[in-house]
Amino acid sequence: MRYIFLVFCSMLLLSARATAQGGEPVIIPEPVSLIRNEGVFMLHENTAIQVADAGSANKVASYLSGMLSAATGFPVPVTKEAASADIHLIMMKEKDPELGKEGYLLSVTAQSVTISANEPAGLFYGVQSFLQLLPAEIESKTTVKNVSWTAPCVEVKDYPRFGWRGLMFDVSRHFFTKEEVKKFIDDMARYKFNLLHLHLTDDQGWRIEIKSLPKLTSVGAWNVKKTGTFNYFSKPEPDEPRDYGGFYTHDDIREIVQYAQEQFINILPEVDVPGHSLAAIASYPELSCTPGAEKYHVNSGEKFMVWPPSGHFYGLVDNTLCPANEKVYAFLDKVFTEVAQLFPFEYIHMGGDETARNFWEKSAAIKALMQREKLKNLDEVQSYFVKRVEKIIESKGKKMIGWDEILQGGLAPNAAVMSWRGIKGGIEAAKQKHEVVMSPSTHAYLDYMQGDAVTEPPVYATLRLQKTYEFEPVPNGIDPAYIKGGQANLWTEQVYNTRHLQYMLWPRAFAVAESVWSPKEKKNWDSFVGRVEKQFERFDVAEKKYSPAMYDPVFKVTKSAKNLPVVELNTEVKGLNIYYSFDNSFPDKFYPEYKRPVTVPKDAVAMKVITYRNGKPIGRMIVMPVAELKKRAGIK
Ligand code: ACM
Repeated sequence: MRYIFLVFCSMLLLSARATAQGGEPVIIPEPVSLIRNEGVFMLHENTAIQVADAGSANKVASYLSGMLSAATGFPVPVTKEAASADIHLIMMKEKDPELGKEGYLLSVTAQSVTISANEPAGLFYGVQSFLQLLPAEIESKTTVKNVSWTAPCVEVKDYPRFGWRGLMFDVSRHFFTKEEVKKFIDDMARYKFNLLHLHLTDDQGWRIEIKSLPKLTSVGAWNVKKTGTFNYFSKPEPDEPRDYGGFYTHDDIREIVQYAQEQFINILPEVDVPGHSLAAIASYPELSCTPGAEKYHVNSGEKFMVWPPSGHFYGLVDNTLCPANEKVYAFLDKVFTEVAQLFPFEYIHMGGDETARNFWEKSAAIKALMQREKLKNLDEVQSYFVKRVEKIIESKGKKMIGWDEILQGGLAPNAAVMSWRGIKGGIEAAKQKHEVVMSPSTHAYLDYMQGDAVTEPPVYATLRLQKTYEFEPVPNGIDPAYIKGGQANLWTEQVYNTRHLQYMLWPRAFAVAESVWSPKEKKNWDSFVGRVEKQFERFDVAEKKYSPAMYDPVFKVTKSAKNLPVVELNTEVKGLNIYYSFDNSFPDKFYPEYKRPVTVPKDAVAMKVITYRNGKPIGRMIVMPVAELKKRAGIK
């Protein structure tokens, strides 16, 4: 009996080892170097973590202990005793200059795991890589039985390409609670992002308590809850309750900042001025150039700006702070005093984007300002405003960063530029020897649709995963010394809840993580796709949502000689089979397989398409109306 039991145990062990040995180490973002060795390390009931340092490194050890024990059910104590531990976190006495502040060495052997770094941040990133070597079940919040908790033996050397690896979270258009922000932080830390840009104010809500300006949150944080498609909502009726929204108190902010710091994430606060300021103006109408023109309200998603194809957008209500009004600068002084006290990060973001200036054009006060300050046009008025804001921010001991519109009319002397309208603003700023963070909408706007418009919740543009993966923060010919890094932006006009928030973030944020961490020459789309799929398995265990759009076909439509749509289909992911129908039924693998462009039959009303891999459906059922295909082909 005993013999049989032993045989059974060794069979279990062998099969576990076989699985683990077959599995390749898979990490996002791709490390600088990774050598796969024979064998596996296995977590067990007596696994313990040794750390000598009592400060931040100890916190990293506790973090790792928490991550390991939740799923394994093992206690995983943290100890100072090297002899009783098999995971070691080591702060290197002799600093390794190649690793810098955030780099690490990770050594996994059959006997032990060693993570060494110059700083605790490096240990934390080593921990993240180690976690990704373990089975997907490690992501479970509850104990999972019958898993062999192995990690392949590897030697990893790793450090980031950029010091600024950001994600912007718009908590203004829709408010997300303190707990939801913390979850966002947890998720970004897993992929070695180190900068959370909080977009705290906009036309739809002011989200940070300013004690000296209480109406900003008693009035400015609230609008009317609407359901449907943002920007097309009905105008709120006077009797509809303005009870949708919220804000963070000073205590909330301090708690979030500390929470983020524990995961080595800085928070960049943004107060978006002089445009996007309707929530502030609804609270203090005297701050606009047209006070008393109407009763201002925080926007609830009804149309209030017009964006003609010419690009000369204008406001239907004045949502701008008035650069000609001294009260505005006194107001901003109060705001930035409190913001600077709450956020330890060295920069404050002042927005500066998309200022509708049609009300400035008509303002006598602006005309007087232009005469007095010899400002030739509204670009110079805007620049005058930005330069004064820079002085205020610098008087609080902080540096200023703004969206690339702050280049218009002349850049403030020390401003850093966040380039969003493509990379040209960043190039211009770098040429002027200013610091730049690249965040081009062409590659890094995670509010855009990630699949075909017929499947995705409607947004005005599309950004697929493969294009996101092409994000390259340093333009050709530009001195990289001025490029601090890159970030992706998640605007939330159309994001109403955290499930959809996750859907919009992942997997595109993986692509951005790799663009800002991994060596440029190590980026590889096919390898990335395989690694993304491994993350999907982990997300399934963690019950986190992600978009499967990378499996859906990309439609390209032209027209035939007979004026019928001709459809060309491609997939971002290699090795998929595409099946389609035109007879309104749902295609599966027994339907025609797409091999070459197909002409739509004259009377068809819909093309239905689905992708398979290895005989199993993997994409979503796409229902493409023929009317839409005709529109795309320019057929009347
Ligand atoms: C922006 O997307 N308006 C910065």
